[in-house]
Amino acid sequence: MKLQPMVGRPVSRLEGKLKVTGAARYAAEYDVPDLLYGYVVNSTITKGKITRIDVSAAKALNGVLEVITHENRPDVASVDLKYTDMDAPPGVVFKPLLDAEVKYNGQPLALVIAEDFETARYAATLVIIEYQEEPFETCLDHNLEKARKPEKGLATMLKPPPPPPTGNFEQAFKDSPVKVDSEFRHGTEHHNPIELFATTTVYEGEGKLTIYDKTQGTVNNQLFVANVFGLHYKDVRVLSPFVGGAFGAGLRPQYQLYLCVMASLFLKRNVRVVLERKQMYPFPHRPQSYQRLRFAADANGRLTALNHLAISEASQFEDYVETVAQWSHKLYPAPNTLFEYKLASLDLFTPLDMRAPGGVTALHAIECTMDELAYEASIDPLEFRLRNYAETDPVTGKPFTSKALRECYMRAAKQFGWEKRSPAPGSMTRGNKFVGYGMATGIWDAYQFPSRVEAMITQDGKLVLNNAVTDIGTGTLTVMTQVAADELGMPMENVTFNYGDSKKPFSMFQGGSSMTASTGVGIVVAVKALKKKLLKKAKDIDGSPFKNVSGEDVAFRDGSIFLRRSPSVSVSFQEIVAANGGRPVKTTNMGAPHVLKLRKYAKATHSAAFVEVEVDKELKMITVTRAITAVAAGTIINPKTARSQITGSMVWGISKALHEETILDEKLGKYMNQNLAEYHIPVHADINELDVIFADERDDLINELGVKGVGEIGLVAMPAAVANAVFHATGKRIRELPIHFDKLL
Ligand code: MOS
Repeated sequence: MKLQPMVGRPVSRLEGKLKVTGAARYAAEYDVPDLLYGYVVNSTITKGKITRIDVSAAKALNGVLEVITHENRPDVASVDLKYTDMDAPPGVVFKPLLDAEVKYNGQPLALVIAEDFETARYAATLVIIEYQEEPFETCLDHNLEKARKPEKGLATMLKPPPPPPTGNFEQAFKDSPVKVDSEFRHGTEHHNPIELFATTTVYEGEGKLTIYDKTQGTVNNQLFVANVFGLHYKDVRVLSPFVGGAFGAGLRPQYQLYLCVMASLFLKRNVRVVLERKQMYPFPHRPQSYQRLRFAADANGRLTALNHLAISEASQFEDYVETVAQWSHKLYPAPNTLFEYKLASLDLFTPLDMRAPGGVTALHAIECTMDELAYEASIDPLEFRLRNYAETDPVTGKPFTSKALRECYMRAAKQFGWEKRSPAPGSMTRGNKFVGYGMATGIWDAYQFPSRVEAMITQDGKLVLNNAVTDIGTGTLTVMTQVAADELGMPMENVTFNYGDSKKPFSMFQGGSSMTASTGVGIVVAVKALKKKLLKKAKDIDGSPFKNVSGEDVAFRDGSIFLRRSPSVSVSFQEIVAANGGRPVKTTNMGAPHVLKLRKYAKATHSAAFVEVEVDKELKMITVTRAITAVAAGTIINPKTARSQITGSMVWGISKALHEETILDEKLGKYMNQNLAEYHIPVHADINELDVIFADERDDLINELGVKGVGEIGLVAMPAAVANAVFHATGKRIRELPIHFDKLL
């Protein structure tokens, strides 16, 4: 029997049944005995000081055990560094219940703990808080003059600041015959995962905790809890096997974790804290942004000058940064460049990575500006991109490890029918609708983090793998099982991948579309080492036929090692484990990016999105009737889960372009639409035909698996493609997102 490789097959997700039957447990669903429930009291002002906090009525209520405030909270770490998680930006981390100061609207000010959730929630309404209010600023657009360079910090390793200028931008811009100068504005967006942020803390005895937390990073939160509450790392275990969406909101420890652990240690009891939807708005979010782009080209449509200024919001305590300003020069060569990135501190909570952070903000502006420039130059928008195609990295001149963007353009354009487009705005109609075709390019990094994997063969001859990574809904469990099965030549049903547990070997948080590369490579490295060990153990068996053979002489298949030259000579994994005294044969190894080798190359994933919209001639209602995204992301391990990632991202792209925005009232300093009824996201009726193409991109350099990651790359090109299609339909350039019909009236 020959085993078919599993990599490349559209395997359905292994945990699918658990999820659709409700058997999968989420952070707030674990059955824990004698559980107490915490409910958070949030500030109703935006800035100032608490002058009085009266918890007596709440505490007097039957069933209420305690109300924790800044006045009675237990001690926590006083050194700022102890609060710094692996995704913390430069600054001083916000500490709930630290003192009487209020720094943003909705800040947690007290935790009520009761025998049941309803009592805790009711008691929270009885907590009386008086404030002394201070003036505040929350609107980016009215505070652009405050913008300044961000603080430097660790975060700049993953999100480098813009490179220094090249050539002479101002002169080149002035001298170029074709130019565009445009401003773009984005409102706030919130992640809004379906699973509410929640923590269940099990008090295991003095200083020992088991924590079920909604997070993208079990180890990140384990270290945070241990550091902040002065516990031993090994005494804190964070579990998060199932995550109901996160999109970046779960990259950093959120305040319900902190408060839940604090209550558990304070009362020496098991405690659960679940946030309500509205409590997840004064929270991490995609920042408001302002961008000004000035792009110029010569008479042949070759870019001469690129200037991109991006300003986004920071909190008063942390400088959250994104890579925004320099993306155009990773896609298009130009001799004169000037990129600037600035922050303005506002009285809001710190923003945080939200799917394709920085990239989707930037590419909307860049790709709309490219579209405008193509019109200025009277060149087809796709042709304009091809004329400015970067064969090597424009910034460094380095070759890409792989780049199948041209294939993305060509295949998507062909399938979409781009050649049928008549260029004049408003020239295509269907009944009482204008029809618009728009396209845009996408680019995202190809991240890989170190990941340690334990691989073992158990008594039954099966493969078990352990790693701390979470699966936030991306299909990680399935993909990792496929990779491991192929590496050991085993059917998938004989492979068990354990994950979502900080006790397992190290993984970074799941983010940046990095996990298939990170933990996938960890698995490849660990299973390769395991094979060596199995062969060595096979040689140790009395009378072993493998005594004098080397690694190249043997193959691993279906739970056995056999001689390549005479396949009838074999030993099963079960026999090897039996000869090992019944003890599993195991190894733990670290997979890591080949930093030195990759220094000679540039790396990125690419995409091209093509969108058709219909705009009602009178009512101006906008419908995305069809969209195609072609993605170049190296090897696609699982075309089914990968496709889901991309279509999900495309839906988000449509949503970002046409629907979603958190409305900030700058007089109150507060987000006003704090629920899913008023925070508009697409429903089925808003989404029509979506298709995904994976370019045939082979990358032998990037890592052992040739993967670059999918997810965020499906989002980056979409908002610009939609906005460009709206222009083609209507002749209107709407440079603020979301584009609502009233902007076209
Ligand atoms: Mo995502 S913003 O990489 O969690």
